[in-house]
Order: sequence, then structure tokens, then C-alpha cells
Amino acid sequence: MIVSDGAYGVGGFPGDPPTPDALPAWYEPHVAAWTACALPETTLWFWGTEIGWATVHPVLARHGWLYRTCHTWDKGIAHVAGNVNSKTIRRFPVATEVCVQYVRNVSFPADDGRTLPMQQWLRWEWERTGLPLSKTNEACGVKNAATRKYFTADHLWYFPPPPLMQKLAEYANEYGRPDGRPYFSIDGCSPVTAEQWARMRPKWNHMHGVTNVWTEPAVRGNERLKDKKAQILHGNQKPVRLLKRIIEASSDAGDVVWEPFGGLCSVAVASLLTDRRCYSAEIMADYYRIAVERLEQQDYLNAYEAGDVFTYAEETRVIQPTLFTIREGAFRLLALAT
Ligand SMILES: C[S@@+](CC[C@H](N)C(=O)[O-])C[C@H]1O[C@@H](n2cnc3c(N)ncnc32)[C@H](O)[C@@H]1O
Repeated sequence: MIVSDGAYGVGGFPGDPPTPDALPAWYEPHVAAWTACALPETTLWFWGTEIGWATVHPVLARHGWLYRTCHTWDKGIAHVAGNVNSKTIRRFPVATEVCVQYVRNVSFPADDGRTLPMQQWLRWEWERTGLPLSKTNEACGVKNAATRKYFTADHLWYFPPPPLMQKLAEYANEYGRPDGRPYFSIDGCSPVTAEQWARMRPKWNHMHGVTNVWTEPAVRGNERLKDKKAQILHGNQKPVRLLKRIIEASSDAGDVVWEPFGGLCSVAVASLLTDRRCYSAEIMADYYRIAVERLEQQDYLNAYEAGDVFTYAEETRVIQPTLFTIREGAFRLLALAT
């Protein structure tokens, strides 16, 4: 999965354009690079202001990213309290950001040279077999769910569950016209298996009670990193609690998380806490150094909490197999691309 928390178009950090108009060009090379590496399982979470995201959406759509849901982070009234001059402001104060979920628009090559979206490809493959559509129900061992859900041409379409997809593929290849085989093949050689099919859609681990409105104060207290003069170290630090939520929802333990705009690398911290492997990039040397220290400390704390033999008193650095890596090389590469 990818968590993007980059330019906002508000001049918020060195290199952040002053207005949203410049955002499409700013994001274009990054989106192209993410697209080249993304799998059907990949989810992209795009943080921004409302207008910033709206401005970048066409770039994402052009690169085959499919909009799923816009989540509003409501930081609450405390975020604006004391900051509003009623004599000069001509709108209601803003206490939100958005985090927008995108998935890949998965498509497959058809035997006639076209590339078809998944829903159309399923119908195309079945039609090629020469079998009536009603036989899809027999293949799945259901009354009418296959025709009604998995082979419908309308918006009520459902992704066929992997075990049923395997049954459909086996049936089609056994009873379909012999000259068209293989049917429902992803590699062009053999019919799709349940395991292969399960990887054809983005991961989703559902959480009950969570909606697309996230009420959470801006980062404060111990979590907010400050210097010796109590000045905050990064104006855009994201709450680890929200990052853990999106990581757990769209990936599994051991999966790779890509954080292209690290800042203080809050995504890497959340990944470390949830047993994911995170790669982060940060272009500013000062932020990069602070992030490294933060991650090393977090790694140390994790080991300590896990009952490791090391303690602070021993002043021994814990060298755990790292679950995170910050790669200077990666950010240099992206910096060149922008
Ligand atoms: C909105 S902040 C991210 C804050 C982060 N989510 C956190 O919680 O600390 C964006 C960061 O991206 C960095 N950045 C901008 N362009 C970059 C690039 N091309 N490659 C890597 N980092 C970049 C900026 O220096 C800034 O620190």
C-alpha cells in the first residue's frame, strides 16, 4: 500500500506550491512511479486539502487509479480556537483535511487484442466458451447468484469469491469450446486458481464502527515532536492512530508500505507498530535525520515493551531485524523526477 502525504498547495513546507494549481504537475511523476509498481492488491491513500485533492484527482484517474472513498479528518473546534479573526475572515474556518482511498482499475487482455475491465472480461470469457450464461450457476453450485452477481453487466456486480472463481474457471475449461481454451487465464497458459484470483483485488480488513468521518484532534502532547524551545518540528505531522487505521484496513502483517513524502515518517512509525515493512523517502536533510532518530527510538521502545533483555539503563542499542528502512537513494531518485 502507498500513503501519500505530499504537497498541499498551501506553501506549507519548502517545495510545497503556494496554490493548488501547480499540484497536478508536482504529483505527475510520483503518480507515474507508483502506478508502475502497483499491484491489483495495492491501495493508495492520498492526504490533502479538499481542493488540493480535487485538483490532483484527474492525474490519479488518468493513471488508472479508481476513487473509492473520501475520508474527512475532523480535527475539531480546538484546531481553530483562538486562530480566527471574525473581522477579516469571510468563510467558516477550516478544521479538516481529507484522506482519499484509491485502488487499481484492474483490467485483463482479451483474446481479440482489447484490454477489458474485470467485470467485462468475466462476461467476455464466459461468452467465448459458447455455454449459456445460466450454466455459471451450475459451475458455482448456486441457484442464481452467479448470473445475478458475478456476471451481471450492471452496477450491482460483485467480485466473484476466489473459491467460486476457481470452480467457474474449471467448469469453463472442461465444458467450453475446446478451441478457445484456456478460459479465465491470467497468465495465458492455465485457468486462474483461487489463490491467484484472491490477489486480483485490493486488500480490505473491515473495521466495524469506523465511517468516512474521522474525528481526531491534530497531533499534540507527547506524540507531537518539538525542539528544545518547544517549537513543533514539522507542521504536517499526522496522527499515528489514523495511520494505523488505514494500514490495518488495507494491508496484512509483513506487507510493504511506501511512504513517498516522509516528513517525520509517521507512516513508518505506524507500520512498525503494526508489523508492516515500510520504505520512506524524505527530501529535506533535517526532517530525514529527525525521522531516523524517531524510528530508532520507536524500534527501541518496541523491543523493550516486547520484553527484550535490553533496557535504557544499559544504554545498549537494540539492533532488531528492522521492519522499516529509510532509503536516501529512493528520495534522491524521486527528487530528480520532480
Ligand atoms: C506533508 S509533509 C509529510 C508529513 C508526514 N506525514 C508526517 O507525519 O510527518 C510532506 C513532506 O514531504 C517532503 N517532500 C517533498 N517533496 C519530496 C520528494 N520529492 N521526495 C521526498 N520527500 C519530499 C517534504 O519535505 C515534507 O517533509
